[in-house]
Amino acid sequence: MAATVHVIVATTVMLLVSSARANNDEIVSCTQNQVLQTSVTKPGAVLKLQCPSSYTISPTCTPKVGNVFSDDSCSNMTTLSDLCPGASGTQASATDNPVVLTFPQLPKNETTFYFKCTQSSNWCKFAVTVSAAPPGGPQVCAVKNTSVALALKGEGGTTQFACGAGLELNPANAKKVYDGNCTEEEDLKDMTLTGSSDSYYMLKADKAPKDQTICYVCGAAGSKGMGAETCAVLISVSAGSGLAALSVFGLALPCVLALLHFT
Ligand SMILES: *[C@@H]1O[C@H](CO)[C@@H](O)[C@H](O)[C@H]1NC(C)=O
Ligand SMILES: *[C@@H]1O[C@H](CO)[C@@H](O)[C@H](O)[C@H]1NC(C)=O
Ligand SMILES: *[C@@H]1O[C@H](CO)[C@@H](O)[C@H](O)[C@H]1NC(C)=O
Ligand SMILES: *[C@@H]1O[C@H](CO)[C@@H](O)[C@H](O)[C@H]1NC(C)=O
Repeated sequence: MAATVHVIVATTVMLLVSSARANNDEIVSCTQNQVLQTSVTKPGAVLKLQCPSSYTISPTCTPKVGNVFSDDSCSNMTTLSDLCPGASGTQASATDNPVVLTFPQLPKNETTFYFKCTQSSNWCKFAVTVSAAPPGGPQVCAVKNTSVALALKGEGGTTQFACGAGLELNPANAKKVYDGNCTEEEDLKDMTLTGSSDSYYMLKADKAPKDQTICYVCGAAGSKGMGAETCAVLISVSAGSGLAALSVFGLALPCVLALLHFT
């Protein structure tokens, strides 16, 4: 992933951190005996969490984040990367240093996890909610041996995605796509792929496409299939009423009503 994606990511971080009342270069902190809710809504986001001075965070985050709490009472733990593919975190030392979390790819389902800061009987918590990618993206396929699911509906419908760092989009020919098994290359029909590896790709339906699942594979040049060395972008395409069809309906209905009114 190169320049443009990073620009989008920087904007995301600003939006995300502002919801926790901080700005881009600041770190999100919780305050005594309170739960700070924060959210991650775009792939590639970076989130920095810091306990109040001299508090200690749990689960342990030094040098790397492994487990996080899975419940708001902070009694059960689970592995961060199981909740959210590819997510990772670091903390330079246990106190007075932020935990820096990165989310290269959004999870299939929305997920929330927790950290707790303590200093004798004082505590505060972070509740971090990571959104699922919306059907229209943007999503980044960054983690090998996983897939991401997107959808494209009706004429005019679009969906946006990118391959993660070090992974190339296959097929390389923008007029080709893989079938739903990510193995057979076929012509891209009724849809156009624009964009480049510098930014998000956008797939757009020029006319109502037939119902099908198509696939792009992020991996080494020429790779196909779902497996340990690839990340698959599965796109559920349907002819269904997209925006264009809806607007036609929106125009037609008042006409019909007008006709009824005057006859
Ligand atoms: C924690 O895990 C235990 C055992 O898996 C389970 O019985 C319990 O309900 C969990 N607690 C919470 C708050 O999720
Ligand atoms: C994601 O959510 C859907 C419906 O909300 C559910 O059917 C599915 O089992 C969930 N998947 C996972 C991995 O939790
Ligand atoms: C995927 O492979 C299975 C088994 O080989 C086949 O039945 C199915 O039709 C294939 N799907 C597509 C979309 O080509
Ligand atoms: C790939 O994922 C499957 C399950 O989705 C898992 O069983 C397998 O061990 C993974 N392979 C690697 C190399 O991580």
